[in-house]
Amino acid sequence: AEVHHKEFVVQATPVKRLCMAHNIITVNGQFPGPTIEVTNGDTLVINVVNRARYNVTMHWHGVRQMRTAWADGPEFVTQCPIRPGSSYTYRFTIEGQEGTLWWHAHSSWLRATVYGALIIRPKESFPFAKPKQEIPILLGEWWDRNPIDVVRQATRTGAAPNISDAFTVNGQPGDFYNCSSKDTTVIPVKAGETNLLRFINAALNTELFVAIANHKMTVVAADASYTKPFTTSVLMLGPGQTTDVLVTMDQPLSRYYIAARAYASAQGVPFDNTTTTAILSYDCGCADPGPAVPPAFPSLPAFNDTGAATAFSAGIKSPSEVHIPGPVDESLFFTVGLGLFNCPPGKTCGGPNNTRFAASMNNISFVLPNTVSILQAHYHQVPGVFTTDFPAVPPVQFDYTAQNVSRSLWQPNPATKLYKLKYGAVVQLVLQGTNIFAAENHPIHIHGYDFYVLAEGFGNFNAATDNAKFNLVNPPMRNTVAVPVNGWAVIRFKADNPGVWLMHCHLDVHITWGLAMAFLVEDGVGELQTLEAPPVDLPAC
Ligand code: C2O
Repeated sequence: AEVHHKEFVVQATPVKRLCMAHNIITVNGQFPGPTIEVTNGDTLVINVVNRARYNVTMHWHGVRQMRTAWADGPEFVTQCPIRPGSSYTYRFTIEGQEGTLWWHAHSSWLRATVYGALIIRPKESFPFAKPKQEIPILLGEWWDRNPIDVVRQATRTGAAPNISDAFTVNGQPGDFYNCSSKDTTVIPVKAGETNLLRFINAALNTELFVAIANHKMTVVAADASYTKPFTTSVLMLGPGQTTDVLVTMDQPLSRYYIAARAYASAQGVPFDNTTTTAILSYDCGCADPGPAVPPAFPSLPAFNDTGAATAFSAGIKSPSEVHIPGPVDESLFFTVGLGLFNCPPGKTCGGPNNTRFAASMNNISFVLPNTVSILQAHYHQVPGVFTTDFPAVPPVQFDYTAQNVSRSLWQPNPATKLYKLKYGAVVQLVLQGTNIFAAENHPIHIHGYDFYVLAEGFGNFNAATDNAKFNLVNPPMRNTVAVPVNGWAVIRFKADNPGVWLMHCHLDVHITWGLAMAFLVEDGVGELQTLEAPPVDLPAC
């Protein structure tokens, strides 16, 4: 196994998008940021140097971080921010993961421009014929205004933040946006070859449908776990999710659009309904390809096609029979959804009917500490930073899918509450979407863990009938599950990684509103079950 040393300099960088000049925050002046390529088993040593004017932290999304929680990165959860002018070195090893992951800033909305691919090649060989090319395709979301200002303003007023101004493929909006077509991402391919496309949804707030004109895709991995191959003409990725597909270039020499647009699961809520494109361009093997004809355009599901989104997720399975951890030690039931806070007396707020937008799990709206990280507080036993009384089940039960339930029944409590797990405990967690204010598909991500998705469904989860629907044979392993709109998902994992691990909705607007909680996984017995000591350069608060 190799050790890879990298330097990531976070800095302001001039770019042009949508007919305007901007100064965005990047890593090493690149947007998207540098692609990291490693082999399963390798170690990464990444020195993040902050030359920007914002605090920053970096998260290696989906990396298990076994015993190295100090390198995980969420601001005020596992570390204090890297202040402007300082640096911090993230050290971690990739253990048993292969496929596509990614990295992104985990502080405010910086990840709008601070993100990149993390490609993990197999130790031995792919479980399919070696692809000719491996092509990272990062789907993103672009704001004309500084995204930090967008979220700051929303937080001040309690209103919903502005929606984005474009979607992007590898940083470029593509042919259907003003002043963009000359920079559209073009991917050169050769007829007959089979390529591995590594899709990453790095968008802040939008689930995306993706399709390629005239080409079928065979899904072979998701969230850096191999899947049973299945062929589809459309993908749906929630923010945080990755999907690796094989595509054979079996069409006539021409150009074909890769196109992505929103799966807007929340009905009646404004969203960006534009389409981003890149071009698969077949090499004609000639000097003059003749006049360029417009590329063929794929058919994409309608923006509200929940059926298409659900069918795609349901198609993802493990390649063969897996060993599912059991028996269950901790049976948990967490609601995930939006809510509203009353406006403080004497103030005017920007949410509906003079409220502030909120979001919660089990009615707790997560609050980050701001003087010390939770992991440091846990490690050094600093009192008063968090409590461990996060409820195992919702405090009140009712029809979670009903709209307009009385707000008095369901106004979240802001708090920093963790759920404590014994080392090695087997956790089964029902994630139940709610419709208090609006129902929406919530891509729920857990740091430090992969989990099996045993089942997904619509309506209220009912153990008496729904337990029978669990796939206990070949459920998919993921790090982010798109909990269906007005529905539920059941996941299972073994708490074999000590530390403090954030679980949250990967729509940044929902994290901003508090749709998060954290697990505190206690140390076990013996060195391999114990959190490592904090690195000496861990940023001070
Ligand atoms: Cu992709 Cu909390 O992160």
